[in-house]
Amino acid sequence: MAKKLPIEQEVQIDALSKDGLGAAILNERPLWVRNALPGERVQARILKRRGGQRYADGQPLSDLSRNRVTSACQHFPRCAGCNLHHLAYSEQLQLKQGRLAQELQRVGVAAAGWRTPSGLTRLGYRRKARLGVRVVGEQVLVGFRESFSNRVARLDACMTLTPRLSALLPPLKRLIAHLSQPRTIAQIEMAEGDSEAAILVRHLDVLTESDIEQWQHFSNSQEVQVILQPAGYDSLQPLPGQSSVRPLSYSIAEHGLSLQFYPQQFTQVNALMNRELIRVAMGYLGDVRERLVADLFCGIGNFSLPLARQGARVLGIEASAEAIAMAAANARRNGLTDRCSFRVADLYRAPTTADALWGSVGDPVVSGSAPEALIIDPPRSGAGVNLDSWVVNRVLQQIVYVSCNPQSFADDALRLQHAGFDLREVGIYDMFPQTAHVETIGHFVRAP
Ligand SMILES: C[S@@+](CC[C@H](N)C(=O)[O-])C[C@H]1O[C@@H](n2cnc3c(N)ncnc32)[C@H](O)[C@@H]1O
Repeated sequence: MAKKLPIEQEVQIDALSKDGLGAAILNERPLWVRNALPGERVQARILKRRGGQRYADGQPLSDLSRNRVTSACQHFPRCAGCNLHHLAYSEQLQLKQGRLAQELQRVGVAAAGWRTPSGLTRLGYRRKARLGVRVVGEQVLVGFRESFSNRVARLDACMTLTPRLSALLPPLKRLIAHLSQPRTIAQIEMAEGDSEAAILVRHLDVLTESDIEQWQHFSNSQEVQVILQPAGYDSLQPLPGQSSVRPLSYSIAEHGLSLQFYPQQFTQVNALMNRELIRVAMGYLGDVRERLVADLFCGIGNFSLPLARQGARVLGIEASAEAIAMAAANARRNGLTDRCSFRVADLYRAPTTADALWGSVGDPVVSGSAPEALIIDPPRSGAGVNLDSWVVNRVLQQIVYVSCNPQSFADDALRLQHAGFDLREVGIYDMFPQTAHVETIGHFVRAP
């Protein structure tokens, strides 16, 4: 009979995985260790085995990495919300830039220049979060998942959430514990705008009148909008007594803009880094006055409106009809309707080819022309099958590609290279400090 592995074992950490885990070899098989850095010897306690992989907690024993720092968060490394609290911030940036470089090397795309990694925040940056709720005996937990498990972390505060959202955790836990049926609350989503915060309460059963009263009291005392969610997002409803779900808003002061969004809609989670991202993207595009720029995967107009404010004609395209309605409303609110046109389209579906997207007659913003520049900010899977067709027209001179996945970014960079575009500059911008998330911005220009 095969000998069972001991639960605890001393191992040597050789590298850091893309998920921020220390990589070790134990009995000739990989072991992934949290709270462990390359070069360190750690006592590894195996917590989970799945699909031939083993995952462990690490207690450093010797040869501590000079890049190790004391975690500012007492919930690290158990809480899976973050995985790099033990790594010096400058090294976090290097790790992310290195991962991007590896991906570009994999596909054989060389960038002419690399941006200095940009990271303007460390903690307290996160304006959006989806948190699990669990009732354990008398106790209610509201938090991120624990790493290597489905349990919910025991949090009283979270250092990456904005102070305002973090401060909601203790009263939320108390409130749910006092409800007549705490187990009916399955999940809480939080969102913060510049002046108001909101929570979406996903509940599995009809709430009793007294429970609704408790939520109303919570909403008033915490000055937070509470939105009930009995099923999917299309079921969202205000608390009884409130006439409607109110949008939140954030400003992009540099461009004199204020954008509204509903809490469930996509917005960049880190307000300061979002403004930095817009600044860099606009800097790449240069003088956009009277030029047609297509903003693909435009959401609520996060890039479209700054571009329009700078004098571009902007065509924003996106799959979500609600996001497009909000983008159009944002253009109206900011006096930019004459420069913006927004369309709903599933950009992954053929035939969303260039002609189908911007070949339409009768749109005064597009006026029959093809864009000279694109902004592409897709989901993790990348730009999709239609990318090649969007870039064939030689009127198109440059592309700013914003990505949350270095792997799909690199794959698309290769396609753009084949289509005749050089990667003039690339780099990471750190939207999620203390986590292993890598966000990339690349500037492609048509080769002479
Ligand atoms: C990373 S977000 C970027 C949003 C926006 N650029 C911003 O900065 O807030 C990606 C966007 O792609 C949209 N999206 C997802 N799948 C899509 C598809 N198949 N076609 C078009 N848009 C899609 C999402 O609704 C989301 O708004």
